[in-house]
Amino acid sequence: MSTRAESSQSDVAQYFNPMAPDQIEDPYPLYARMRRERPVFYSAPFDLWVVSRHADIAEVENDPSRFSSAGALDARSEPHPEVLQVLEQGYVRFVSMVQSDPPDHTRMRAVFGKALSAQRIAAMEPEIRATADMLLDRIVRDGKADLIQQFAYALPGLIICDLLGVPRSDMEQLKRWSDDKTLLMSATAPLEHQVEAAHGFIAMQRYFIEQLEERRKHPREDLLTLLVPQSMGGTAPLSHQEAVCNAMDLMAAGHETTMGLIGNGMWLLLQAPEQLRALREDLELLPNALDEMLRMESPIRGFFRTVISQTQLGGVQLPKGSRVFIVYASGNRDEERFSEPERFDIRRADARKHLAFGKGIHFCVGAPLAKLEGRIAFEHLLRRLPNLRLRTDAAAVRRPYFMLRGFEHLPIAWDPPVPV
Ligand code: HEM
Repeated sequence: MSTRAESSQSDVAQYFNPMAPDQIEDPYPLYARMRRERPVFYSAPFDLWVVSRHADIAEVENDPSRFSSAGALDARSEPHPEVLQVLEQGYVRFVSMVQSDPPDHTRMRAVFGKALSAQRIAAMEPEIRATADMLLDRIVRDGKADLIQQFAYALPGLIICDLLGVPRSDMEQLKRWSDDKTLLMSATAPLEHQVEAAHGFIAMQRYFIEQLEERRKHPREDLLTLLVPQSMGGTAPLSHQEAVCNAMDLMAAGHETTMGLIGNGMWLLLQAPEQLRALREDLELLPNALDEMLRMESPIRGFFRTVISQTQLGGVQLPKGSRVFIVYASGNRDEERFSEPERFDIRRADARKHLAFGKGIHFCVGAPLAKLEGRIAFEHLLRRLPNLRLRTDAAAVRRPYFMLRGFEHLPIAWDPPVPV
């Protein structure tokens, strides 16, 4: 059995830094070493126990009685005092469903199960298709675009606005605030950026407080109306704070991740022309291809947990109160779970066994929407943009986040339609 001190001696532990440029570019060689040498280790600089094997991650996800989701989105447990000062202007504690444990989690999940039901999501298909076409109409004749900035973020961004019931014209502002929220939770940015982001975080809270008040006065057929708490005269068994936090989470979770899926998936296809060709020729392969994209390049590298009382994991003893980072992006390439895990294969029979949507009670409640958006996005991109390729005149740029994996810019080109 390893102790905390022994673990901190490990080279892998010393090298681990999700914000280092080489680990943002390509973390997979390190992940392979982690699984081989120290599947569970303590990282002193981040004060985190890092868990890299598929089986250990699944064990954590499946046992909320040992591993609490409190702080599941926070790389650090306590904000800096200057950040805290700003946050105190609003709700400081972020009490959304993803950060809660039973029985609170069970209560909140019932609300979202209804709001994001398969039936409700399936009914959005025509609207998602029309939005994808509208975005592609704007660029198709140019023969080139930045896939992220001109398509991949706008598609899920506009759809989550529709679902929540907020104006599409607010999307840009909501995206900036969502970025602030992500930056704040990574807690690795320079302090002045964190303080700035905290202001955005408070502004986003105020926005949703006003929106909920508006739904209280004038209920509509939208998700925000379903979140109006009983204490305000609505139907949701949520506190006001929970309603606000969950609305904020949905906005961020609803577009950042699917944007990652579209960008990462396109990157994978452009690296593997024979897979791209096979998919173009048979779009029926898309559902499995999407799972394989999520397995190979998980849009969320990992989430956090807190150890409720001293426990063992992977032969290592974890002290009470310690923070755990479960690295889905590593578990998804675990050679004990997947054969030839580094190979991208859109026909892989067990691609669905990936952990990119999590597992257990917190399994992504937005997965049906993400998959529908992903399927429509690739169907439309592959049908309308022939001879897709990466551009050589502009570079792909990855997003520098602790928890997320995706591109900020992905310049692509295709053969534009010949004018008639
Ligand atoms: C490809 C896209 C997506 C990925 C990779 C993804 C990933 C995940 C993961 C890994 C979790 C589990 C968190 C945990 O165990 O702590 C999760 C939960 C969640 N996701 Fe997603 N997600 C995606 C899309 C979406 C969308 C589109 C929405 C909203 C419409 C959404 C809303 C949520 C919510 C609310 C939870 C919390 C569920 C709970 O705690 O019970 N996600 N997601």
